[in-house]
Amino acid sequence: MDRDPSQIQSFLHNLAADERARAERYYFDRDREHFVVARGVLRDILGRTLNRAPESLSFCYGSHGKPALAGETGDDAIRFSVSHSQGIALYAVTRGREVGVDLEHIRTDLAVAEIAERFFSRRETAMLRTLPAELQCQAFFHCWTRKEAYIKARGEGLSLHLDQFDVSLLPGEPAAVLGTRLDPSEASRWSLQELDPAPGYAAALAVEAHGLRLACWQWQPSV
Ligand SMILES: CC(C)(COP(=O)(O)OP(=O)(O)OC[C@H]1O[C@@H](n2cnc3c(N)ncnc32)[C@H](O)[C@@H]1OP(=O)(O)O)[C@@H](O)C(=O)NCCC(=O)NCCS
Repeated sequence: MDRDPSQIQSFLHNLAADERARAERYYFDRDREHFVVARGVLRDILGRTLNRAPESLSFCYGSHGKPALAGETGDDAIRFSVSHSQGIALYAVTRGREVGVDLEHIRTDLAVAEIAERFFSRRETAMLRTLPAELQCQAFFHCWTRKEAYIKARGEGLSLHLDQFDVSLLPGEPAAVLGTRLDPSEASRWSLQELDPAPGYAAALAVEAHGLRLACWQWQPSV
């Protein structure tokens, strides 16, 4: 997400007034620039998808802050999700399906068992405990990104309680929503996919569908 000043200016130029106001509120230049770049690239990706100028796009926001494209409604509406961590951004775009993506830089200095006790479900915490210490960090980040991708796809933020659903986390186990407590049929509506965008990062994608074809690209500025 570090870009040269002329690229940042060009992204800033494409932002809407509310996005520029948000950019102004960042205290540190680096955070402001990362926000501008993340939004600039999002507008570029969506503009290319819709064959529209990036600056012509408008965003609206759900009650918990999930951004969406204003005016994109109906069964084949373009949906998207964004995540950023430690200088990298990950974008997911779908047509007609809810989508959530999460990316985390893997930190090896975290007390993962304690954080899991606090945030994960009982089933997830129990699964994590079965692992030897050297496998727990990776499994922790699998669990974290899968939970977060699902939450972001649903768009309800942390009003969706983290202990209300279980995801897979054991090494070699495919990413999946294993169960949900409020509505047991909910788990089968979603597919989760582990992503590997860069060394040292964990990431996951949640889509309200099964058997979709996933295509991955690295964003490049248009020439
Ligand atoms: C709002 C939330 C999405 C923030 O997630 P995050 O991991 O801090 O940040 P990410 O970089 O992954 O995502 C931020 C992006 O999500 C999007 N977003 C914001 N609110 C959202 C919502 N309610 N639903 C889906 N996406 C949302 C925006 O595009 C945002 O990008 P922007 O800041 O450039 O506008 C939310 O899920 C949250 O607060 N999570 C807390 C983290 C936590 O405790 N997780 C426990 C997991 S076990």
